[in-house]
Amino acid sequence: MARKGGGRQPTCKSRAELQAMREAGGILAGALDALEGLLRPGVTTAELDRSTEEYIRAHGATPSFKGLYGYPATICCAPNDVVVHGIPDTTTVLREGDILGIDVGAEVRGMHADLTRTFAIGEVSERAKRLMEKTKEALAAGIAQAVEGAKVQDISRTIQEIVEGAGYSVIRDLTGHGIGRRFHEPPSIPNFVALSQFPEDYGVRLRRGMTLAIEPMVAEGAFRIVRDPDRWTYRTADGKLSAHFEHTVEVTRGAPRILTLPAGPGRDCEPRPEGSGAAGNGGYGS
Ligand code: MF3
Ligand code: CO
Repeated sequence: MARKGGGRQPTCKSRAELQAMREAGGILAGALDALEGLLRPGVTTAELDRSTEEYIRAHGATPSFKGLYGYPATICCAPNDVVVHGIPDTTTVLREGDILGIDVGAEVRGMHADLTRTFAIGEVSERAKRLMEKTKEALAAGIAQAVEGAKVQDISRTIQEIVEGAGYSVIRDLTGHGIGRRFHEPPSIPNFVALSQFPEDYGVRLRRGMTLAIEPMVAEGAFRIVRDPDRWTYRTADGKLSAHFEHTVEVTRGAPRILTLPAGPGRDCEPRPEGSGAAGNGGYGS
């Protein structure tokens, strides 16, 4: 998430920059796929952090979060009422029925990617499952809006409609963001529309080659959040659940291209020629 809106123009990335981001994103997806096997009651978030860092470095990338604004770890862990930026530690032990947001960033050749998924630990409540499903659905719908010629507010509005339509609320103090050579770049990508809060960001017109971290943070109850004394961990003020899903996405003329998908057949070759986006690999399935 980014804390503040920025009025500066977003940059369009070169082929080489996009390729580096796609590699970083592929490593992140692989890291979370691998991590999923460790997610069971009794495991500490410090263990998850250590194994994610090892995975990222073993694949030739660097964790983006470590040292960013002084953040001390590779991943952020957000169990249950934690919204974002929970610091992994040896005293946070996963329990059956928890939901856990894991947010992770990596850098390849100076370019960043950002990915978040919320996981179920063992068997979770129907309530928790529905919250995660709707948040994921809101992310997919928001991503679909990220096409050349659209505006940031099209993403924001679409996410908000799905989240509020499901009876949940969108966190308002935290947003998605541009991403690239810097981890947080303009524009801010709010998950709601309130022109008073991010007046310059909503009107930003998307152009091909822009790269965006789209990340709905959804509260089961009210959107007010509070910060722990550690000055990092954000929780819902009402103590209800929160879920978070995020992808890093490239804007094209056609279907948006998700850069944070697992590497696989067809993922290691050169980017497709421009203009072939509608037939491209923008879906979740590839
Ligand atoms: N993915 C988080 C975001 O977009 C970044 C967390 S790193 C931190 O804000 F240093 F800010 F914690
Ligand atoms: Co982010």
